[in-house]
Amino acid sequence: DTVMKSGFPHFMLKEIFEQPDVIHHAIHSITEETLPQSLLNANSIMVVGCGSSYHAGMIFRYLLESACGIPVRLELGSEYKYSAVPFNDVIIGVSQSGETADTLAAIKKGICNNVKTVAVTNVLNSSITRSAHDTLLMHAGPEISVASSKSFIAQVGVLMQVINLLAGGTCTEALSHARQAIEQILITDLSKAVDLCSNAEHLFYVGRGVFYPVMMEGALKMKEISYIHAEAYAAGELKHGPFALLSPQTPVIAVCVPGTAYEVMLGNLKEMKSRGTPLIALGIQDDIDLNDIADILIPVPEAHPWIQVLTTTVLLQLLAYHTADSLGREIDMPRNLAKSVTVE
Ligand code: G6P
Repeated sequence: DTVMKSGFPHFMLKEIFEQPDVIHHAIHSITEETLPQSLLNANSIMVVGCGSSYHAGMIFRYLLESACGIPVRLELGSEYKYSAVPFNDVIIGVSQSGETADTLAAIKKGICNNVKTVAVTNVLNSSITRSAHDTLLMHAGPEISVASSKSFIAQVGVLMQVINLLAGGTCTEALSHARQAIEQILITDLSKAVDLCSNAEHLFYVGRGVFYPVMMEGALKMKEISYIHAEAYAAGELKHGPFALLSPQTPVIAVCVPGTAYEVMLGNLKEMKSRGTPLIALGIQDDIDLNDIADILIPVPEAHPWIQVLTTTVLLQLLAYHTADSLGREIDMPRNLAKSVTVE
């Protein structure tokens, strides 16, 4: 067991630490030659997935729409079956295992409607690869931990490279920094944030734009392995209800990095702080305004926004992991969860 974990206490931590290599291979697994023709011709794209794979699809939607102006529709695998309006360009099914029943059903529904389908998966010869017209393999290697980490990063890497190629290679330079950026983030000291989280019963994760799905994934990791109730919200939505729950007992975790959403995000965080909530902010280390309001600042290196999507994702994986570990949770095999869900 210890040999298989290469000295790590859990598979999840081992898999988190594999991510510098995983992102590199995922990005380089897709080239102009291997990009499915259906994606090159698409005027609109639909993405389906479940769990973390859905979050990867949501990141894809934000980034593709802004890089290429191609509209993206996003559906949960389990809900697409109730959608009466067929979609007519391409469906991308994102599934680590390639066996998730709901995602598979969505691909099959697309095929029935004469829609081109593309699978993004980690498993060669999985059911989804046998159904879909084209397959993009993410080459993350087997993932043992039930909670996904490296397969999520690989999905995002593959999808970023798809966008990059559709956008004529405009982000090739940025993506070339992915491996090193993740390597550096792995050594971040999260102990103060872990202390705060492991004593909380409820956590709110907030972000804007592409960092909203990053926070959804962060909150999912936290609840899966630590069993702490963690909810993600688009930062602007808190005032439409969840504000009623804010108190000194409900820490908020937020991404607030320079970019189009920065100013408004800072404003949102000030509103939250005035409700007495402890604030853990992921942002630039010497950001004076953010340091002013954050109780704990987790530093995110300045980089291209795509790279910050990756680094913040990894920081939130580590926060969930170390919080769960400090609470003595089983981590690799959380209660009630399965790695692959093959029933509707
Ligand atoms: C399960 C796993 C999740 C995963 C989801 C979708 O719930 O525990 O980690 O994100 O299924 O799985 P897939 O294999 O389709 O990506």
